[in-house]
Amino acid sequence: MYDVLAVREDFPVLKEVIYLDSAATTQTPVQVVAAMNEYFYKYAGNHGRGAHRLAREATNHYEDARENVARFLNVDPTKTIFTKNATESINMVAHGLEWISGDHIVTTIIEHHSNLLPWIRLRKLGVEVTIIEPDSNGIIVPEDVDNALTDHTRLVAFTHVSNVLGSITDVSRITKIAHRGGAKVLIDGSQSAGHMPLDVHSLKCDFFVTPGHKGLLGPQGTGVLYVMKPDLLEPTYLGGGTVHAVTTDGFELEPSPARFEAGTPNIPGVIGLGRAVEYVQEIGSMDIERHETALSRNAASRLEELPSVEVYGPAKRAAVVPFNVKGLNPHDVAIILDETKKICVRSGYHCAMPSIRFLGVEGAVRASFGLYSTQEEVDIFIESVSQITSLLA
Ligand SMILES: Cc1ncc(COP(=O)(O)O)c(C=O)c1O
Repeated sequence: MYDVLAVREDFPVLKEVIYLDSAATTQTPVQVVAAMNEYFYKYAGNHGRGAHRLAREATNHYEDARENVARFLNVDPTKTIFTKNATESINMVAHGLEWISGDHIVTTIIEHHSNLLPWIRLRKLGVEVTIIEPDSNGIIVPEDVDNALTDHTRLVAFTHVSNVLGSITDVSRITKIAHRGGAKVLIDGSQSAGHMPLDVHSLKCDFFVTPGHKGLLGPQGTGVLYVMKPDLLEPTYLGGGTVHAVTTDGFELEPSPARFEAGTPNIPGVIGLGRAVEYVQEIGSMDIERHETALSRNAASRLEELPSVEVYGPAKRAAVVPFNVKGLNPHDVAIILDETKKICVRSGYHCAMPSIRFLGVEGAVRASFGLYSTQEEVDIFIESVSQITSLLA
């Protein structure tokens, strides 16, 4: 097990606040900031667009980052596409596949809007979208996916870990079921990548997406799209970097991944992400998972004991704990926690309105944990929520 207090030294802001909002975005280690600074101070240049030394060095570092991220996910670097976030990655799949009226997509009600709206919009083209509900614990039941499949199902898109409930999906089993039914699979790994051991190659999914700025500890403005068969996907954007021959009559695309990365990419961000996955790898995803889930499960069970507190999601949860204090608006709870103890939690819909409404509420407070969170922080958090509830008594 790693030394959490030593790790915290890499995240200076943690001396100032109790940060329990890692599901929204994680803090960035100093090593990652240093890697990005090095780009700006020593070799800022464009990617793949120049013969001079700075352009060459920037290109090499950017491609090294791709190797790192691909190795981390255990996939082929040529199938590892950098995007600006998970949302863009999912939209590139929605735009890049060819849809015809009558095609069918299966997704779930516990998705983040990013993995719901791109599919719902396809209804305009005559694509049918089935949105299945999870069981009472918020877990997607593989048999329900099986039952939803039709002869026309082209895609099954689901989250690995719910950002609202912390429920964990049996991605491997659902992928097998969907493939057996002839459908492709998109896994939204936004809340799993970096938080738990992951081998995307073994999952055999067709698409895997993750932002860089959550469990991978990279900067905002970075994301990843893994595509098993890049030739099946049409690039959403075209422009500089995507082609190797152009005339006024037409163009020839570069192979993947270049064909999917139009325009100047987020070079410093990607270089930071490349360093960030090294950092996560050095600590180890298995230990990170063990540490984070011990904290989240401890927090959830202690919250459940408090009067007037309702906790959502399964007992066997990932690093996410949603709850409400009866009679109080979740935003008010979040503001009190911040004002009294500098505790940063998320409140509201969490960009997942159908998921929140499935719980029968209009919003929730969400505490979420990172590899740097501590038991002491959990204790202060529980004590603070307890004090809020005692005000109501
Ligand atoms: C499960 C899930 N999917 C997708 C996203 C969207 O990520 P991004 O805002 O980086 O595109 C999030 C962000 O919270 C998420 O939790």
